[in-house]
Amino acid sequence: MKILVTGGAGFIGSHTVVELLNAGHEVVIVDNLCNSSRKSLSRVKRITGKTPTFYKVDIRDEKKLDAVLSKEGKFDATIHFAALKAVGESTKIPLKYYENNLGGTFTLLKSLGKHGCKNIVFSSSATVYGAPKEVPIKETADLQATNPYGQTKLTIEMILRDACVADKDLCASVLRYFNPIGAHSSGLIGEDPKGIPNNLVPYVAKVACGKLPCVNVFGNDYPTHDGTGVRDYIHVVDLAKAHLAALKWTEKAKGIDYFNIGTGVGYSVLDIISAYSKACEKELPYKIEARRPGDIGE
Ligand code: NAD
Ligand code: WQD
Repeated sequence: MKILVTGGAGFIGSHTVVELLNAGHEVVIVDNLCNSSRKSLSRVKRITGKTPTFYKVDIRDEKKLDAVLSKEGKFDATIHFAALKAVGESTKIPLKYYENNLGGTFTLLKSLGKHGCKNIVFSSSATVYGAPKEVPIKETADLQATNPYGQTKLTIEMILRDACVADKDLCASVLRYFNPIGAHSSGLIGEDPKGIPNNLVPYVAKVACGKLPCVNVFGNDYPTHDGTGVRDYIHVVDLAKAHLAALKWTEKAKGIDYFNIGTGVGYSVLDIISAYSKACEKELPYKIEARRPGDIGE
């Protein structure tokens, strides 16, 4: 298949591109590199021996996006990763998130429509469940956004639903990721956030390699097995492979459907620190801090 990948230079995108290339698909990446670099693409080449076509284009730029689609011809499917994703930042500068995530999706859908591209796999998030009433969470659970980032994901899900209702030939696979972590086994690509990481696992990694002094554990008074927050962590390569399954689904299906992408098993913050300590054969220092505002226990 010929696949358009928006945000393909990013963390999940680059791992997915590796899996797509290894499976023999033709890949065209569109990314403005606002949160990634060309380095990940040269690393993808080192891993796969193949070079994906790359355009440094902001998906909000309709003219440039149209030019890419006109030049490349018809795509069998699009995987839409391109978005801003920092929850905390989204509460401080919400308009930036609405503009980028919603604006980018509008332009993309318009361009895809003009070029007859009917199948899309969308990167949504378990954040659309807000504080769930029960775990494990089913796809039919109530939806609720608790921050502007989550609101952009929920709104895009609704836009896709309406588009699929209006055009019976459209097919959208909405993947609601739980907590993606890890890196490719080559060690060449992975998660490399700029500055101090917001997310637990990259933070623990920085403590493990001595770049940060200790892990701050946000709360130990949640109703979980050890009081610290529990999450469903999924390895990024498993998550990448889920996109190949989603592509197969879009080949046969019509309309929209929603898929939780996790493992169904939760681990606490202390479980993660302990597993990481074991893997790197040294005790990682941590201290218990107050709960992080807006966090849920599980
Ligand atoms: P990332 O920041 O590493 O990758 C996103 C990529 O999109 C980056 O390369 C960035 O440069 C690009 N991008 C952003 N805005 C763009 C625009 N307007 N035009 C072109 N390119 C643009 O993030 P990631 O962790 O790989 O996340 C990929 C997708 O998965 C995002 O949609 C994110 O919201 C979603 N998601 C991520 C997580 C997570 O914890 N990492 C969890 C759930 C959902
Ligand atoms: C995991 C656990 C923290 C950092 C976020 C987004 C979500 C999704 C994935 C995109 C929690 C605790 C964390 C630290 C800690 N992204 N923690 N010390 O909050 O589950 O999900 O990323 O869609 O939308 O909200 O992930 O890795 O930040 O936190 O104790 O330094 O680790 O309190 O219990 P989260 P996280």
